[in-house]
Amino acid sequence: MTTDQPLKIAIQKSGRLSDDSRQLLRECGISIQNGKNALIARARNFPLEVLYLRDDDIPQYVADGTADVGIVGQNVVAEAGFEVAEVRALGFGGCRLSLAVPKSVDYPGLHWFEGKKVATSYPSILSRFLSEKGIRAEVHTISGSVEIAPNIGLADGIADLVSSGSTLFSNGLKEVEVIMHSEAVLVARPHLPKGKKAMLDKLVFRIDAVQRAARSKYVVLNAPNDRIEAISRILPGMKSPTVVPLARPGWSALHSVINEDEFWEVIDELKAAGAQGILVVPIEKMIY
Ligand code: PRP
Ligand code: ZN
Repeated sequence: MTTDQPLKIAIQKSGRLSDDSRQLLRECGISIQNGKNALIARARNFPLEVLYLRDDDIPQYVADGTADVGIVGQNVVAEAGFEVAEVRALGFGGCRLSLAVPKSVDYPGLHWFEGKKVATSYPSILSRFLSEKGIRAEVHTISGSVEIAPNIGLADGIADLVSSGSTLFSNGLKEVEVIMHSEAVLVARPHLPKGKKAMLDKLVFRIDAVQRAARSKYVVLNAPNDRIEAISRILPGMKSPTVVPLARPGWSALHSVINEDEFWEVIDELKAAGAQGILVVPIEKMIY
């Protein structure tokens, strides 16, 4: 196996994950010339070839080596059951696979499904779930528009992906049980040749930098010099904050990085400790 072959990545051609998948590659500094309807494209500045596929087909293509890696929902990976390795969770495409029933049903609990007919595009996950819970129900597999099945009398309930919930709502259904949570993941075929493994590591290094940056904010603030120590204790930062003297005597500017999760709490503490003129700036990449 030669090492100068590009890493082949499969992403969804169109659908819930396609825009975010392309954007992630862009944020990793990988530019892809997109022939509008091309199914394969070559990156200009990274040894990467992009295959645009139906999301449901991605696990199989990655497992059999047609693609080396892929971006796909955990739900699709779990349903397909092929042997692929999850390399990174990507933090987008969040959704859950849930059971839903008509709004009018006075739902008493999972035993309601006993003897019922459930339509889904996820027969294997659903069957596993039902049998673990000891529920005998008829699983009816359909490949699309699952949400209309109860209305046309095809099924009593459904198991389908829910993200905002608007699809269920506009079809008069309500979510009653969560079967699994899912998000987009980067998957790889199990035994990548060495050269390709090195390219994957390079890609993952960039993804990590982008993801860290997305979770962090750059903060600049002013403070009287006698508050610097107290404020530095609040700022977790990468190491310790950068302190720069201001033209105004007795004052300094502090620069640091804070985590999005603790953002508002930290800001309140900073104000209480005497910080003024707090600026918060997005970060594009973060390399440790
Ligand atoms: C899922 C699901 C619903 C919709 C739910 O389809 O089948 O149609 O998303 O989203 P909502 O709760 O925000 O309304 P998906 O886009 O994954 O398409 P696919 O199953 O064809 O891949
Ligand atoms: Zn799909």
